[in-house]
Amino acid sequence: MTSGQFDKLPGTAQPHGPSAGDPHRIVFANEKGGTGKSTTAMHVAIALVYQGAKVAVIDLDPRQRTLHRYLENRAETIKRRSIALPTATFEVFRGDSVEQLEAMALDVGTGHDFLLFDTPGRDDPFARHAATFADTLVTPLNDSFVDFDLIGQVDAETFKVRRLSFYAEMIWEARKKRAMTTIKQGRKEMDWVVVRNRTQHVEARNMRRIDQALGELSKRVGFRVTNGLSERVIYRELFPSGLTLLDKGHLGELGTSHLVARQEMRALVMGLNLPNPARVSADPVLEAAQ
Ligand SMILES: Nc1ncnc2c1ncn2[C@@H]1O[C@H](COP(=O)(O)OP(=O)(O)OP(=O)(O)O)[C@@H](O)[C@H]1O
Ligand SMILES: [Mg+2]
Repeated sequence: MTSGQFDKLPGTAQPHGPSAGDPHRIVFANEKGGTGKSTTAMHVAIALVYQGAKVAVIDLDPRQRTLHRYLENRAETIKRRSIALPTATFEVFRGDSVEQLEAMALDVGTGHDFLLFDTPGRDDPFARHAATFADTLVTPLNDSFVDFDLIGQVDAETFKVRRLSFYAEMIWEARKKRAMTTIKQGRKEMDWVVVRNRTQHVEARNMRRIDQALGELSKRVGFRVTNGLSERVIYRELFPSGLTLLDKGHLGELGTSHLVARQEMRALVMGLNLPNPARVSADPVLEAAQ
């Protein structure tokens, strides 16, 4: 990836990103499909609203719009059951220029603490734009070298990292570009966090190898690694109702047995090291997770 490729974004003018004081942007991105972007995004969004934060979401995948559907399902459950649940503001982006995307970000994000972008699992100019202007870039990765391949290639015998992938180089370029806006617009540097999704403790040997390779790569590319959600059927089952494990009291029988899962949601949000807006309570996810 050369920095020139960023100039090929749709639209005529140079894309203008956010300014200081705008909501903190969290972008869920990974060019590979099905790594858990939308699932992780939903759980982070709802954990943040439970903290008292105002959260807005833009779904950049107008075809699948998984996150949008998840939040729509949540809105329907709230209405159908006449219950009060905290939720996020949400929109799908269907425009065709970066200027339109920034206009939507301004429109949807104003008055919110966090603006989340869920991106499609393929190369996409708007996903690239969103990634460039991320304050926190979250890349979910399943514990598999198939997913790992997207960031770096490993040697078949030693499992040592041989080279960076196209995607890692693209993010590298995005960060360089971001560093310039950091200086010009007084924004913070991008924090790139690789979140391990669908971890399974039965796969200890594979996990250790991935750990090793990720550790090596994180130093070369400059990301952090944190634990995300483990493999649980419940994360799939809750989609139609738009509920999450934090919606205690509304989950029926599922509600009581998932203390560990709620703790892992809490750990996930803590691991993202997000800023703490004034209205957010001190250790709210912990409260919600009890
Ligand atoms: N921790 C988990 N435990 C169990 N199932 C999971 C978990 N995370 C994701 N899944 C399931 O894996 C599939 C892919 O997840 P998801 O849609 O979040 O990925 P994605 O990266 O957003 O995909 P795409 O690239 O297509 O947008 C879904 O069926 C989802 O329910
Ligand atoms: Mg998705």
